[in-house]
Amino acid sequence: MVAARITVNGKETPLSPAAPHTTVLDLLRERGLTGTKEGCAEGECGACSVLVARPGVNKPTDWVAVNACLVPAAALDGQEIITSEGLATVGEPGTRPTLHPVQEEMAVRGGSQCGYCTPGFICSMASEYYRPDRCAHTEPDGNGDSGDAEHGPNGFDLHSLSGNLCRCTGYRPIRDAAFAVGEPAEDDPLAQRREQEPPAPVATEYTQDGATFLRKDTLAETLQLLRERPDAVVVAGSTDYGVEVNIRSRRAGCVVAIDRLPELRELRVESDHIEIGAAVTLTEIERRLDGDVPLLAELFPQFASRLIRNSGTLGGNLGTGSPIGDSPPVLLALEASLVLADADGERVVPLAEYFTGYRQSVRRPDELIRAVRIPLPLSPVTAFHKIAKRRFDDISSVAIGFALDIEGGIVRKARIGLGGVAATPIRALATEAALEGKPWSAETVEAAARVLRGEGTPMSDHRASSIYRSAMLGQSLLKLHAQTTEAVSS
Ligand SMILES: Cc1cc2nc3c(=O)[nH]c(=O)nc-3n(C[C@H](O)[C@H](O)[C@H](O)COP(=O)(O)OP(=O)(O)OC[C@H]3O[C@@H](n4cnc5c(N)ncnc54)[C@H](O)[C@@H]3O)c2cc1C
Ligand code: FES
Ligand code: FES
Repeated sequence: MVAARITVNGKETPLSPAAPHTTVLDLLRERGLTGTKEGCAEGECGACSVLVARPGVNKPTDWVAVNACLVPAAALDGQEIITSEGLATVGEPGTRPTLHPVQEEMAVRGGSQCGYCTPGFICSMASEYYRPDRCAHTEPDGNGDSGDAEHGPNGFDLHSLSGNLCRCTGYRPIRDAAFAVGEPAEDDPLAQRREQEPPAPVATEYTQDGATFLRKDTLAETLQLLRERPDAVVVAGSTDYGVEVNIRSRRAGCVVAIDRLPELRELRVESDHIEIGAAVTLTEIERRLDGDVPLLAELFPQFASRLIRNSGTLGGNLGTGSPIGDSPPVLLALEASLVLADADGERVVPLAEYFTGYRQSVRRPDELIRAVRIPLPLSPVTAFHKIAKRRFDDISSVAIGFALDIEGGIVRKARIGLGGVAATPIRALATEAALEGKPWSAETVEAAARVLRGEGTPMSDHRASSIYRSAMLGQSLLKLHAQTTEAVSS
């Protein structure tokens, strides 16, 4: 096995002697690439953003921006990354480097003051700059401008910067820079790189100081390993695990990467269900489904930032067993099941039967979530309401997923998933019963909203009081009714 190494800005960088828990951020800074900054070390600020060559959605390779503070360096063994230093073109000694177009726009439009956040913004912007399906809006709006509040006339999606914080420049000049970038030139090396395959995942066994980071080639090998090493900690996108390492100093003796296992990376639409591999990233699901599951399309923009969604997975969101994860309320409303795999085979468990207690589930330590199955057809009336303190990149106080079949003004079927109101995500069974068979009227909805306020056992914490959480449940149903009345009465 070749010694673990990452190609950083075109140069091979061995991992040794870094400890297996070392993040990409720490590795870069230890090796002198101090452009990549640490602001928070928990995925909140984006100062550590770097570009990784990943399998593309519309081209062989996408340049994907990720939080280097969360990703273990060993997870990128054999992979290619670009930092802010690698974007500029360095010429002869003594001459100034030629700035990357994104850097140039940030410089000339005053997008940087103290500069601490700037390398992270640059990498997130560069990822969007190279997004193959970013296309210019040519149709002007009524004011003679093109684009909209969240997209520039160049098609730049401002949400690509939702994981980057700047505390001194202010966001307008940064937005100006983002909306001013053009298309990559034909001879742009990173644009050309998109046309070739990204590096394949490589089997890794990286041991230092008694701790090991492992990546196997196949699911079967991984499951056998999990059976032999009950102490092993599984890691996918590492957006939860990385916080544990940095903030809670978690040091596992054996970490097993599953994020590139082909068996966990499939997304298939069958006649009676959609199957989403547990290690397909949230961004990939969003782009590959492209709105085909409207409830998921409503979830993703409210789920963390683009930087987090570029690494985070459904397997990881369900694997934590957290009662405040955003996908369970949605997947409960969609009546999803989980395909659990161990070394002997697979079993399918309805998500409604998966959680057994606070951060506990029916999944055994030697089992992995291989995929999430969503039955078809989908209910036509769906909504995801997330109540959080910040609009983007925040954990829910309460989250509600709705999926209703309403025919001839009558609720034929109601499925409602709730997060943040009990020790586990739950179905709002009493509310579903209060709606089914009844007219979708203000009277029914007001009565059902009273039932919904009583679902679960919400608690008070620093995010919200129990009274507020209950009140939000009821409001959510009233809001859905107000939003849908026109649509279903027609
Ligand atoms: C800044 C920030 C914002 C966030 N915002 C949100 C938010 O808005 N909503 C939200 O719900 N979450 C949020 N999160 C949490 C996190 O991003 C999600 O839970 C994400 O889906 C985790 O996926 P991952 O692949 O990164 O998990 P990892 O960190 O790799 O793993 C998490 C856990 O799941 C287990 N696991 C992973 N994959 C599997 C599998 N296939 N089978 C079994 N177990 C598995 C791992 O062993 C680990 O215990 C946020 C996190 C951060 C840092
Ligand atoms: S250092 Fe803040 S997101 Fe990584
Ligand atoms: S330029 Fe100072 S934090 Fe952004």
